Amino acid sequence: MGDLENGWTISDTFPAAGLSPSELTAGLDRAYAETTGWDDPTVTRLGFAMSAPHEVALSAWTRFLALNSNNVGVHTPFGAGRAGTRRLEREALLGLAGLLHADSADGHITSGATEAVLQGLRIGRNAVRADAASRVTLITSEFAHHSVTKAAEVLGLDLRTIAPGPSWVIEPEQLAQAVEAAVAAGATGIIVALTAGYYNSGLCDPVDQLAALLRRRAVQLADQVRFFCYVDAAHGGFIFPFSDPALAFDFRNVGVHAMALDPHKSGLLPYSCGVLLVRKGLLGHVTEASPVTGIVDSTLTGSRPGAAAAALWATVFGLGHAGFTAAIQECLRRRDLIADAIRAADPEAEIRPAPASPVVVAGFSTPDGLLPKEFTERYRLLAVSAPAPQGGRRSYHHFYAGHSLTDEQIARFATGLSEAVAQARAARARPGRGKADAGLPEQLRDIAADTDCFRHYIVHPPGRRDPDEPGYSFHTFLHRSTTGEPLQVREWGETATGRQAHVYAPDLADPFGNELFGVRTADYYVEVLDRSQQKLSLVGGVHFCVGTGDPGERVLMNLESTGEFRSLEYKFGEGEFTDEIQCFRDRVVVKLGKSARGFRRRAHSDEYSFSIDTSFECTVELADDDRPARLDMLRVSGDPLLPRRTHLLRQEYQRFPNRFFDIECTVVVGARSADAWRLSDLVAASAADALVARSGLVGRCVPDVSGNAGELVVTTASLPAGRRTRMTVDTGVGQRMARLLPVFDVSEPERLRVDDVVAVADHGADLIRAHAAVRSTDGGTETVLATAVGVAA
Ligand SMILES: Cc1ncc(COP(=O)(O)O)c(C=O)c1O
Repeated sequence: MGDLENGWTISDTFPAAGLSPSELTAGLDRAYAETTGWDDPTVTRLGFAMSAPHEVALSAWTRFLALNSNNVGVHTPFGAGRAGTRRLEREALLGLAGLLHADSADGHITSGATEAVLQGLRIGRNAVRADAASRVTLITSEFAHHSVTKAAEVLGLDLRTIAPGPSWVIEPEQLAQAVEAAVAAGATGIIVALTAGYYNSGLCDPVDQLAALLRRRAVQLADQVRFFCYVDAAHGGFIFPFSDPALAFDFRNVGVHAMALDPHKSGLLPYSCGVLLVRKGLLGHVTEASPVTGIVDSTLTGSRPGAAAAALWATVFGLGHAGFTAAIQECLRRRDLIADAIRAADPEAEIRPAPASPVVVAGFSTPDGLLPKEFTERYRLLAVSAPAPQGGRRSYHHFYAGHSLTDEQIARFATGLSEAVAQARAARARPGRGKADAGLPEQLRDIAADTDCFRHYIVHPPGRRDPDEPGYSFHTFLHRSTTGEPLQVREWGETATGRQAHVYAPDLADPFGNELFGVRTADYYVEVLDRSQQKLSLVGGVHFCVGTGDPGERVLMNLESTGEFRSLEYKFGEGEFTDEIQCFRDRVVVKLGKSARGFRRRAHSDEYSFSIDTSFECTVELADDDRPARLDMLRVSGDPLLPRRTHLLRQEYQRFPNRFFDIECTVVVGARSADAWRLSDLVAASAADALVARSGLVGRCVPDVSGNAGELVVTTASLPAGRRTRMTVDTGVGQRMARLLPVFDVSEPERLRVDDVVAVADHGADLIRAHAAVRSTDGGTETVLATAVGVAA
């Protein structure tokens, strides 16, 4: 099955034959068990507007599901809306248009509010453009759902966002200013996206005042600017008409042109079903006949499920105004119970009322206004930064009293919240970043920022420093400069080879018991990990780093805790990307265009993630014989000719990995093979064309790797041709280093002595230096890089 560990990107073989019924059931059972139900005692969805679908919706949906002839999309225009689920769609939509006080309306069901927003704003754009308004600006609140900004990007609209003030909704004055600024900047078309029910607060923009303001400006500027007003009622559309019928957020304002609703939120439908409604005539701005079939299409998507139309119809007409009103009133009662629970747990919490919404917003009096992670996970809560009444911004949590929430769940939440608030208060604030003594040499003043050896940094939740404890830590590649923790630095004196050494550690009073201990001179540093780091580190217990005098070249060496040699690594390049050759005893790994970053997921949190992006990675496995070279694996995943965004946060990789490769390949060759080989000959001709990579040294390039008599040569020819680089390495260097190095066992680091570590560091650095990279320039544009080959064993 798919490679989930690596983030779903490595393709799987399509199944040759179907699974047996029991295997199929087992696969589905597993996923079903992983999906928490509404009554699951461990998870309650309080942060999102989600509910179990209503029985009438479910039964209509399932009844029509098997009839694929119910596609209400563009491919089945027959019946012209007068038959089957097409008729149900129209009837449901017209009922909803009546609910929203439209005298007449057009529209269609969508996959959700995101599609409805995109389609609604597309209609707006085309409508103002149809009247010669070519420069179109979209104005919205910074708190608008990101489907609005997404749509602006897709539709190519200039975006102007309004920063929320103390009320969190768009105030008339703010909108007036934004309109004036857009007009002054040359906009000839202005689309305003208002929100009826912000997802982080439940609040509703004063649509009646804002739409009237826009209407006045539209009349005043009739020969200059076209206006279009859109209301995203994804949340409020199925709530406000039942909780506060007087709230004029809808088509009763003549200046409102289009609206989105989201029946799969408070409308009690299963996913996915959204609704777009527009004033009569406007749908024509997106209506076209297909040049191929002549079929008329007014939608964004092609096929659409008739079962969704049937379910929407069943819910609208099955529940009616009375049914929805009763359901929403129940939600409001539960909302008040949640507010009571918050007041009881944290009497100083700032509770912001969201009138007529089943939403409570609370700013807790805990440090940073936050609640412990276990609690927010369990209740699926999000924290949002928003303006505070006393000025500045602070974190707020919002709580949705959904249709499926029970009083028992609220009671359990109330008890848990009191504990969570106490726990959050007890948590200590993290110390700030510290700098070393100002009396130190310049390059050691901020040693944490200066260290360039990425390491598996280990983060301990407060009070847990034992790696054997469950939940002990998260480990990541992290640059020390981002950890916020200071390092102590002390002058050590002259080493046996006459270098001036400094030693450093988070706590020099306990040098080997606290993450790492380092020795640094002008040309090297060596770091020894403590016991805990050694347990989790993937790259051994000791790291050496030697500079070659060229700022863009360095050699790293990693040793296992037992003192065994692990790898010697040559790194070239100073910018965002490096080119590397890593030599192990049994393999050499070439990495071009590698970029690695570790970072904190959220400010003040203990959560870290890392991301590694390598354009070209070629592993040459050295078999213990003389077999000829063979290509074992070639994967071409990305195209380095196109830019991609590297280093997103881990949470941004929900469906993608945090390790990227454009090209990965493996060559297996006997360590004693006498035959010359070349990667470009081993791969099929068509794949060779694809071997384009990003390089730290020459930018985009055609890479090649070749082997001959124990030597491995990596060449990069820049695109367009101009520069070439050559990196040469002795494939036996790993074996030789392993033989040459005296054993430096650090598996019991507390038994080490600082002086001994300094002596080992000095000796090891000299050995590495003898194998260090040499750079030479040959013929103007050609750079030749070579690792020194053939140092006597
Ligand atoms: C105000 C608002 N608009 C649009 C959307 C997008 O809805 P959907 O996920 O159905 O596409 C949401 C979803 O939470 C929302 O809260």
